[in-house]
Amino acid sequence: MCGIAGYIGDKQAQSILLSCLKRVEYRGYDSCGIAVSSSGIKVCKDIVRVEALTKVAPQFNGTAGIGHTRWATCGKPSQVNAHPHLDCTGNIAVVHNGIINNFQRLKQQLISEGHNFVSETDTEIIPHLIEKYYDGSLEKAVEAALLDIEGSYAIVVVMAGESKLVVARKDSPLIIGVGDRENFIASNVPAILDYTDRVIYLEDGDIGVVTRDSIRIERENTEVDREEHKILWNVEEAQKGGYEHFMLKEIHEQPKVIRDTLVEYTQTAEPVVDLERLRDEGIESMLILACGTSYHAALVGKYIIEELVRVPVRVEIASEFSYYGQTLARTLAIVITQSGETADTLKAIKRLREVGCRVAAITNVVDSSTSRIADQTIYTKAGPEISVAATKSFTAQLMVLYWLAMGYSKADSRRLASMLLELRQLPSKVQRVLDNGDIILQCARYLSKYENVFFIGRGINYPVALEGALKLKEISYIHAEGYAAGELKHGPFALLGEKTPVIAIVAQDNTYEAMLTNIKEIKARKSPLIALADEGDEAIRELADSVITVPRVDALFSPVVNAVALQLLAYYTAKERGCPIDFPRNLAKSVTVE
Ligand code: F6R
Repeated sequence: MCGIAGYIGDKQAQSILLSCLKRVEYRGYDSCGIAVSSSGIKVCKDIVRVEALTKVAPQFNGTAGIGHTRWATCGKPSQVNAHPHLDCTGNIAVVHNGIINNFQRLKQQLISEGHNFVSETDTEIIPHLIEKYYDGSLEKAVEAALLDIEGSYAIVVVMAGESKLVVARKDSPLIIGVGDRENFIASNVPAILDYTDRVIYLEDGDIGVVTRDSIRIERENTEVDREEHKILWNVEEAQKGGYEHFMLKEIHEQPKVIRDTLVEYTQTAEPVVDLERLRDEGIESMLILACGTSYHAALVGKYIIEELVRVPVRVEIASEFSYYGQTLARTLAIVITQSGETADTLKAIKRLREVGCRVAAITNVVDSSTSRIADQTIYTKAGPEISVAATKSFTAQLMVLYWLAMGYSKADSRRLASMLLELRQLPSKVQRVLDNGDIILQCARYLSKYENVFFIGRGINYPVALEGALKLKEISYIHAEGYAAGELKHGPFALLGEKTPVIAIVAQDNTYEAMLTNIKEIKARKSPLIALADEGDEAIRELADSVITVPRVDALFSPVVNAVALQLLAYYTAKERGCPIDFPRNLAKSVTVE
């Protein structure tokens, strides 16, 4: 999703803005631009990568400026639609993340008052509104403009001749990086980590005035204190560390992510979500809401919690949540979101809160919008995830769900003790999957020639089939569908044949025999079949064309090893097809629009 950068200090702003924008490229974008202020405002923007913009932009002198990477929502990707946007005088420049819902009406009104617009964007009304209300104070004009606006925004405004940046946020994240005789603005932390590790998170409704030496934040005309946070991870941790792609690095970080989560949570005395207390309060069921990969983690969570805690769990896609006639009485809601900024998930949380539901959030980003509005937050210990395709955050989410479920398990103590042992061995088992890269690479080479693939699983590995298909389609652009193995014959069988490979997840649990039957049915339709199976499974070799083996684990943990193998399969397939793995077309790391 769009990225924002801002700088004010002693140094030339242009190169700093461009390097900050480079750091937010991972969020996905189709165009980018900068505006530098000195006596006037100089703008350079286009539908290019940041690197190309760096080459073509003239050298602008100025020590204050703003920059933006745009992921088109309102208006197609084009040079004029790229940010920053200007007012009629060309003296006020604005970058904006979010959506202005009433922009058409405001635009018509501004046109009738004599304003000229050049772009199709909603953002362009902001500099025009500021121009309209400007009466000697930039911050007052911004405040007045925002009163007219309905929707979400994170904005940075710069005006020619003014040695300040004005910032504001509502439902879209914005941070201030604190420096020495300089300050930075960004949509997210990696943008500014090259320059400072001191960060202030703005809250909804905040309007700030940032100069070289000062930061003043107000809401409703009263100055407010916002705590400064120290960021504990560094640029290297957010960089590729010798791997060809962020995705591969993040896949390989998973043993560490599992270890870090275990250390964090198995030593916590106080449960974050006290299910016993909630039971006393009459909570009888759980609802888990999420999108995309996080939704798949939620589906796995349903199996884990229902098996161990024995409470009914409902899982819903966050964007569909508003359309159900929900029965939410005595329900604990859990939302899962890596970024903590997914608009659909945030909307669902607000709705849950409105109807009086208690909401616990599982997220990877400290101080994200989700953590601010949920009643409780449990942080996953995945570290920064840069690649658009979620990998290690999925594993970290599962670890938190295991921890939650085991903490309140109704299973006997022998089973729990063996699960704990298994959990401790999980990092080395995942490492064995990663060490098995050669066979996965061979399968990926084979798969890369096809255009349609099915993934099938049963039970707790059905969501893993969905996740395997999502990973493959989003980064290799091969059409992939995840199916519950038993459903394949209820329609999709019509598509089976030599040109449609099937990847079957064959788990050593109560689904095994039924899965073998499904595989035989598939082979009878001549589909090439790759099985993802336990190391000790000899029978599967007779049936499948290729077998990717994974270490034997307790069935409840099989989604972890299987998902990691499928992540690698998707990665190598996309690499074989020459796809831009970390930045798949049309996708963004955090989806901040509905
Ligand atoms: C897929 C992927 C997306 C996200 C989805 C939710 O690899 O990354 O499907 O999982 O957009 O994002 P979060 O978890 O940030 O709410």
